[in-house]
Amino acid sequence: MGILIRTLLLLALSACSNSPEPKDWLYQQLGGAPGLEQLADGLLREIEQDQQIVHHFKDTDIARFRKLLIEQFCELSGGPCTYTGATMQESHTGFQITEADFDNLVEHLIKVMTEQQVPVAAQNRLLAKLAPMYRDVVYR
Ligand code: HEM
Repeated sequence: MGILIRTLLLLALSACSNSPEPKDWLYQQLGGAPGLEQLADGLLREIEQDQQIVHHFKDTDIARFRKLLIEQFCELSGGPCTYTGATMQESHTGFQITEADFDNLVEHLIKVMTEQQVPVAAQNRLLAKLAPMYRDVVYR
């Protein structure tokens, strides 16, 4: 099954869940602040090695990108952060990012989370939060 379909399906499924859980459940599952730093570093390593997508980042301030990615994942996962970057549409306009590029990034994220032993339920929860950003990122 395609990654996009999988994430959209999970998004729908997660909307059905009504079990009470702490606001920062996902943040804790991702390993809190150190976990998110590792996640960002792992993702940057994967991007660096991916010839299909690395060209998009040739003019990017990587330290800033890393910081914003951590902030965004922290906020999305219910952690104690406020995302201070641009909107997803603003920041991805002009790059002509393809569906395949998007899928690659998601695959990298899954690989890194798996390496860091993030439980699959938590992986799926993060992916479900990222899936709706697809339309703001691809072919802008
Ligand atoms: C849901 C998926 C994605 C998320 C959550 C995400 C998140 C972010 C964030 C937080 C930023 C920083 C925004 C800012 O500069 O203010 C950013 C920038 C960027 N993203 Fe993404 N991104 C996603 C998908 C992708 C994909 C698939 C690509 C290409 C393979 C990509 C390429 C870039 C590039 C090149 C920049 C830097 C733009 C610049 O240098 O100004 N992103 N992204």
